[in-house]
Amino acid sequence: MYSEKVMDHFQNPRNVGEIENASGVGTVGNAKCGDIMRIYLDVDENQIIRDCKFKTFGCGAAVATSSMATELVKGKSIQEALQVTNKAVMEALDGLPPVKVHCSLLAEEAIHAALWDYAQKNGITIEGLEKPKADIHEGEEEEEEEY
Ligand code: FES
Repeated sequence: MYSEKVMDHFQNPRNVGEIENASGVGTVGNAKCGDIMRIYLDVDENQIIRDCKFKTFGCGAAVATSSMATELVKGKSIQEALQVTNKAVMEALDGLPPVKVHCSLLAEEAIHAALWDYAQKNGITIEGLEKPKADIHEGEEEEEEEY
C-alpha cells in the first residue's frame, strides 16, 4: 500500500532533530488524528535555507512526508520553499494512499509556519505566505461540537 520511497523515509527518516537558535520554527497539529509536526529552519543572510530539521509525533506517513519535505526545502530560497506543497512532497514520495493525504498537509503547513516565524522574527513579508493554522482542520469545516 505504501511506495518504496515512503517506506524508506519512514524507516530511515532524514533530518530528524532540532536546530538550536533556529531562524524559524513551525508547529502544526491535526486535532482529528492527534498528530503533531515541528519544523526547524536555519536560513542564511541570503534567505537560503541552509538546514532544516523536524520532529514528528505522528503516523508513519507523517514521518515520511516530514522527512521528504525537509529534503526538498534544504538549499532552497524561502520563496522556493513556499512551492514545496503537499502535492510536491507526495509526488517525490511516489504517492500516498488517499486516507493518508492529510498527513502530507501537515508537512506543508509546518513549513509555512516555520517560514512565517522566520518572517516575523526578521520583520519581513514573504509574498504569498499566509498566516499558518495551528490545526490543519481549522476553518475547513463548519463548527463542530467540542469533544
Ligand atoms: Fe494524522 Fe497521519 S494519521 S498525520
